[in-house]
Amino acid sequence: MSDGSGSVDLHHHGDRDVAPGLVDLAVNVRLPAPPPWLADVLADSLRDLGRYPDPTPAIEAISTRHGVDPECVLPTAGGAEAFTLVARAVPGERPVVVHPQFTEPEAALVAAGRAVDRCVLRREEGFRLDPRVFARPGEHGGSDLVVVGNPTNPTGVLHRADDLRVLRRRDRVVVVDEAFMDAVPGEPESLIGPDLHGLLVIRSLTKTWGLAGLRAGYVVGDPELVSALRGVQPPWSVSSPAVAATVACLSERGVAEAEAAALALATDRAVLLRELSAVGLTTAAPSAAPFVLVDTSSLGDVSVRAALARLGFAVRRGESFPGLGPTWIRLAVRDPETSRAVAAALDDLRRLRHVA
Ligand SMILES: Cc1ncc(COP(=O)(O)O)c(C=O)c1O
Repeated sequence: MSDGSGSVDLHHHGDRDVAPGLVDLAVNVRLPAPPPWLADVLADSLRDLGRYPDPTPAIEAISTRHGVDPECVLPTAGGAEAFTLVARAVPGERPVVVHPQFTEPEAALVAAGRAVDRCVLRREEGFRLDPRVFARPGEHGGSDLVVVGNPTNPTGVLHRADDLRVLRRRDRVVVVDEAFMDAVPGEPESLIGPDLHGLLVIRSLTKTWGLAGLRAGYVVGDPELVSALRGVQPPWSVSSPAVAATVACLSERGVAEAEAAALALATDRAVLLRELSAVGLTTAAPSAAPFVLVDTSSLGDVSVRAALARLGFAVRRGESFPGLGPTWIRLAVRDPETSRAVAAALDDLRRLRHVA
């Protein structure tokens, strides 16, 4: 692990790596649009747009789904809003963000005027967190706010819940971004549970449900911390359609459908990994997420992104993640045919580069 100092564009996201006409492997949203039954729920909710939104049904749905008290719950305008609320409301002189990970949590802290330290996990350690680093005074032992993703974007690493739980201390808040946790069958490493002390867990409906444009997510955590977030949340920030979507996605039907999608994802991811391995490419670490982080250094030391775009594929660049560089690309898991096609394109690049 290192402090990973160095500047990257924290606001770069996969949508900026996509261009018209390309097969989109850069954005990790599972569906181009919500399924018809969910679209109907959204359409029905439009009838109420004349009234200001009431988050109560969403609070009840989240609380029921996760078996926690309503005061432990806050619906948000996507997971992204939660990062801003944390940056504004959770005190701490020494926040640390565990990288490589989604960069908005750090961007939100910086925007709130906070000085942020980085704990950069290393490839040699499988991008795995060693919780002892947060116990040693010389390393990150003095941090009072830790932000970590689980499973992690872009590495796909699923940290053990126990390794994250032990990061908590009396004078430290631990924020776990679980935006992709609903893509993990059974969610065994989620930190949502009976003991939420010192914890804030952030969830998103965006990825599994094809709702990036809606802005729906939520926080589950320590009621005192959740109350602090609530105190800085703008009024009516979660729209009536987002409230309706939260209720629907966390219903028994929604949870069962997400679980089935998570199981199907595991099969599709295995195909992608097999195809990549057949053309000599490896991933950073075992992925539990709807994407894999691929090491393309065997194809040269420049990014393969532009060459892949010429072959029809948009992939997420690695160099805007602290701790990674241009020879890493992140690929979304799609259907087997698409996985075979992108692996074949990467194989073509290898041959072209070896001939040149
Ligand atoms: C790891 C991670 N967390 C949170 C978010 C934000 O999701 P939302 O659309 O719910 O704001 C993203 C979006 O890309 C993400 O990749």
